[in-house]
Amino acid sequence: MPNFAFINNKFINFKSAKIHIEDRGLQFADSVYEVIAVLDNNLIDLDFHLKRLKYSLRELEIKFTINKKNLNNIFLNLIKKNKTRNGIIYLQITRGIQFREHKYQKNLIPTLIVYTRNKSFNLPGKKFVGVNTITYQDLRWKRRDIKTVNLLPNIIAANMAKKKNAYEAILIQNGKVTEGTSSNIWIIKRNNLITHPANSDILKGVTRTSLLKIIKKTKLKLIEKQFTHKQLFNADEVFLTSSGSFITPILKIDNKKINNGKIGNITLKLAEMYTEACING
Ligand code: PDD
Repeated sequence: MPNFAFINNKFINFKSAKIHIEDRGLQFADSVYEVIAVLDNNLIDLDFHLKRLKYSLRELEIKFTINKKNLNNIFLNLIKKNKTRNGIIYLQITRGIQFREHKYQKNLIPTLIVYTRNKSFNLPGKKFVGVNTITYQDLRWKRRDIKTVNLLPNIIAANMAKKKNAYEAILIQNGKVTEGTSSNIWIIKRNNLITHPANSDILKGVTRTSLLKIIKKTKLKLIEKQFTHKQLFNADEVFLTSSGSFITPILKIDNKKINNGKIGNITLKLAEMYTEACING
């Protein structure tokens, strides 16, 4: 358990950290969040995370002004206080506290919650693993580009994956893959690397954005296009990306092996290049 959290404007003992029962984040999921990876004490892709946070806040009209210097100070302090050399920073901003009513008042004071969790990552090397996944119906709302804590459909699907001893559920909408419950999904067919376009049907992942830059250095042809359930099963290689899982190979989907159940060469190479970019900036 971490020692400290940051709530609103102060560092506080993790166990004593509390929010109000009429906080709209609690009652309505009226709230946005970010998960930022910490690798060897470095914050990975901080600027992309803050840019997306700003977007989510703007789309929901939550009036929180992002001050990069302040947030960075809070993050670095927490990493130090909680000894989070490797792990994640969780940041959540709710619209604030108000008597319970769906309509929100204009000048609420947003609640800021930040804490860290230690975690070891799945990085290329001796311990690099691929994972088992399932497919599941995408039951979510139509603004998945906003990173809100409105995550019940994701949780139902993720829990189904857990029941089936799988790491992630790949969400399917009208026969097409959108993304994972907490990751973006990519398939490789010959020299083509295919992933869902960044529109309101998926979250534009920060890891996804970083990987797009890396792909430019390879001979792979990037195709940002919807792909079918069938294409998923027939892919040469499949992998997922997220701030918690970096690039993680997918070796099985609904009990069907991908690439004979082995980590593919292209996925491995991309994971190596991505990790290298994280370490060396
Ligand atoms: N989830 N799609 C969804 C629905 C997600 O929740 C996430 C991240 C991603 C990948 O985004 P990124 O590369 O920025 O982490 C895609 C975080 C890690 C979470 O909810 O824990």
